[in-house]
Amino acid sequence: MNFKRLFLISLFIFGITGKNIAQTINPGDIWPDNNGVHINAHGGGLLFHEGTYYWFGEHKIEGEKGNQAWVGIHCYSSKNLTDWHDEGIALSVSKDPESPIVEGCIIERPKVVYNEKNQQFVMWFHHELKGMGYKAAKTGLAVSDRVTGPYKYIHSINPNSGYWPENVCSIHKQPVPETTESSYCGGPGCLPAHPDTVNILGRDFEKGQMSRDMTLFIDDDGTAYHIYSSEENSTTHISKLSDDYLSFSGEYVRVFPNRYMEAPSIFKHRGKYYFIASGCTGWAPNAARLSVADDIFGPWTELGNPCVGEGKETTFGSQSTYILPIEGKKDAFIFMADRWNPENAIDGRYVWLPVQFDENGWPFLEWIDEWGLSFFK
Ligand code: DGJ
Repeated sequence: MNFKRLFLISLFIFGITGKNIAQTINPGDIWPDNNGVHINAHGGGLLFHEGTYYWFGEHKIEGEKGNQAWVGIHCYSSKNLTDWHDEGIALSVSKDPESPIVEGCIIERPKVVYNEKNQQFVMWFHHELKGMGYKAAKTGLAVSDRVTGPYKYIHSINPNSGYWPENVCSIHKQPVPETTESSYCGGPGCLPAHPDTVNILGRDFEKGQMSRDMTLFIDDDGTAYHIYSSEENSTTHISKLSDDYLSFSGEYVRVFPNRYMEAPSIFKHRGKYYFIASGCTGWAPNAARLSVADDIFGPWTELGNPCVGEGKETTFGSQSTYILPIEGKKDAFIFMADRWNPENAIDGRYVWLPVQFDENGWPFLEWIDEWGLSFFK
C-alpha cells in the first residue's frame, strides 16, 4: 500500500469515529481506546475467547491514591490487539466497609481464564486488605458467565493451607518456627539457609501461604496453574488449580528459592516452559530474569536477562505482567509489561514487545518504537 492511500484510510477512520484508533503498538506511549481515552488496565493479562482478545487490568485513578483500588478491574476487547474497545468494569470494588474488596483495598495483576467444563470465566488477582499495606498477601477469586462480566467476588485466600510443596525435603515437612544452616538438604525446593533464619513456609503451613504478584497459565491439557511470589516474596510457588480452576489442588512446588522475584509471566514454546519475572524493587524497574524448564514443576534453570540493547538493565523501564501467544501464528508471543507511575498511577504505560528467538532458540527482547502483528511471519 502506498503512503497516500494509507494516509487517506487513516483520515477516513479518524473522520468517521472522531477518535484516533491505534493501528500499531507503540510501547510506552499513550494508548487510546475507542473513546480516545488512554487504556486503563494495568498489571493486566489477556484472554482469547471466540475470536476476540480481552484485556483485563487494574483500573487506576489519578495521583498516588491510584495505587489502591477505587474502581475495580477494567476490561477491553479487540480483534487485532491494536485498537481496543472499552467493555467497562468487569469486577467492581465494594462500598460496603465489611467487604474484603471495599474501595481503598489493593487489587493487582488480575488474570482471567475460561473453564470449559463449567463454561465459566474465572478471575484470580492479588488482593491486599484495606489499611494493611501488603501484609495479607492473599489471592482473590471472582467468576462470571460472561467474559466481560460483571464478575462476582467469591473470596480471598492464602493458598495451600495444610499442604507441603512437592519438592521440599522431609526434614522440612513440619511446621517449625526456625530453620538453620544445618537443615539445608540441597534439593531443588529445599529451604535455604535464609538470612534471617525464619522458616516462612512452616510458619504459614496452617493458615496458607503468602501470594502476592501472580499470573495464571493453562497448559495444553487444560490444567491451570497459579504462579505467585510467596514466602515474603523470597520464593516463587507454582500451584496446580482444581479442574474447575476455583481452588488450589494442594499440589505445588517452590522454585527460585530466595531469589526474590516478582511479576511472574510464563509461556510454552516447542515443549519448553519459559518464565520471565523481575527482581523485587517496588515500583522501580529492574532487569528481567528469564528461566527455562522441561516440566512446569521444574527443575527450572535461570538463563539471565532476556533483554538486549539500550534499556536492558531496567526491562526498558518496565516490569513484566503477561506473555500472550498470538492465535493462529506459530512461534509468536507478545511480552507485556507495565511502566508504572506511582505518583500518578493512571498514567502508567504499557510496554508490549515481540518475543524474539536467537539462532539457538533462546527467547530475547529488544526495544522497538513502533511495530505491528506483521512482525510475526
Ligand atoms: C511491585 C509489584 O510487581 C507491583 O505489582 C506492586 O505490588 C508494587 N511492587 C508495589 O510496590
